[in-house]
Amino acid sequence: MYQKTMSYHLFLLAALMLVPAIASAADKPASKKSAKPKAVVEASEPALSPGKHTTQMTAAITALKADMETGRQINGVCAACHGDSGQGGKKGEYPRLAGLDVEYLMDQLKKFKARQRMNLPMFPYTLERELPDEDIVHIAAYLASIKLDTTYPVFKDTDDALTRLLAVEKVLNIPRSEGDVDAGAKLYKYECASCHGSQGLGKRGAPMLSGQYTTYLKRQVDKFIKGERIHDVDMKDPSKDVLNLLKPEEIRDILAFLTTLDD
Ligand code: HEC
Ligand code: HEC
Repeated sequence: MYQKTMSYHLFLLAALMLVPAIASAADKPASKKSAKPKAVVEASEPALSPGKHTTQMTAAITALKADMETGRQINGVCAACHGDSGQGGKKGEYPRLAGLDVEYLMDQLKKFKARQRMNLPMFPYTLERELPDEDIVHIAAYLASIKLDTTYPVFKDTDDALTRLLAVEKVLNIPRSEGDVDAGAKLYKYECASCHGSQGLGKRGAPMLSGQYTTYLKRQVDKFIKGERIHDVDMKDPSKDVLNLLKPEEIRDILAFLTTLDD
C-alpha cells in the first residue's frame, strides 16, 4: 500500500539524488567507478556521502549485492518513524539511520529480531514475517547509502515546493548541546576515538556518533550503564565499561563535543 502513495515522492527523490551523483562523476575524469564490477546496487543507488567514508561504504555495500529497489520499498515501513530519508525524528526519539555503516545496521536489526536489544516500538516490524532475514541486507544497504546534508541547499527560483521539501528533509545538523566542548574533546580522544573514530564517523562495528541525535545517544549511554544494552561484547564485566567509569558531567561534555563534529 505504501508503495503506491510513496512512489511519486520517491521517484522524485531518486531523480533528485541522481543529480549530484552525475555531477560528481563528471567532475572526476578518471573515475574508478567504471572499472568496478557491475553490481545490482549501481542501477538505482542513491547518492553516496563524499570523502573516504564513501569509498569504503560503497565497496561494502557493493559486495553485499543488495537490491536497492527492494530496500527502498521496505523503507516505506521504517519511514513512518525514521523518516523518508532515514533522517530520524521527534528530536531523537527515532534515531537517524541514513549513512550508518551497513554491517552495523544489519547487526542491530538482527539483535532486535533476536531480542538481544530490546526495542518495543520497533519489535513488531522486525518479526520474521515483516522483516525476513534476506530483507535485512536490502534495507541496511539502502539506508547506509543515503547521504544527508548538514547545511541547507540554495534553491533556484524554478524549484517547486516539493523539490524544496524533499531537499530540506535531507538536512540534519545536530543542535549544540550543553557542556564543556574542550573537555569533551579530550575525553573523547582518549576514551572513545579508538573505536568510534577521531571524527565520530565510526569504524569496525562501533557506529557513527557524530550526526546522531544527542537525546538518542544519551538514552543509549543510560541503557549501557544499566546493562540493558551491551556496549562492548568482549568485556567480561560490563560494569567496568568505559561508560560506567565516567562521571555524568564527563558524558555530558563528550556529547556536547560530538554535536560540534557535524557543523
Ligand atoms: C514504530 C516506530 C518505528 C518503526 C516503524 C521502525 N523503527 Fe527503528 N527504531 C525505533 C525506535 C524508537 C528506535 C530507538 C530505540 C532505542 O532507543 O534503543 C529505533 C532504532 C532503530 C535502529 C538502531 C539505530 C542505532 O543507531 O543503533 C535501527 C537500525 C532501526 N531502528 C531500523 C529500523 C528499520 C530498518 C525499520 C523498518 C523495517 C524500522 N527501524 C522501523 C522505532 C521504529
Ligand atoms: C572498545 C571499543 C569502544 C569504545 C572504546 C567505545 N565504544 Fe561506543 N560502541 C562500541 C560498539 C561496538 C558499539 C555498538 C554496540 C552494539 O553492537 O550494540 C558502540 C555503541 C555506542 C553507542 C550507541 C550508538 C547507537 O547508534 O546506538 C554510543 C552512544 C556509544 N557507543 C558511545 C561511546 C562513548 C561516548 C565512548 C567513549 C566514552 C565509547 N562509546 C567508547 C565500541 C566502543
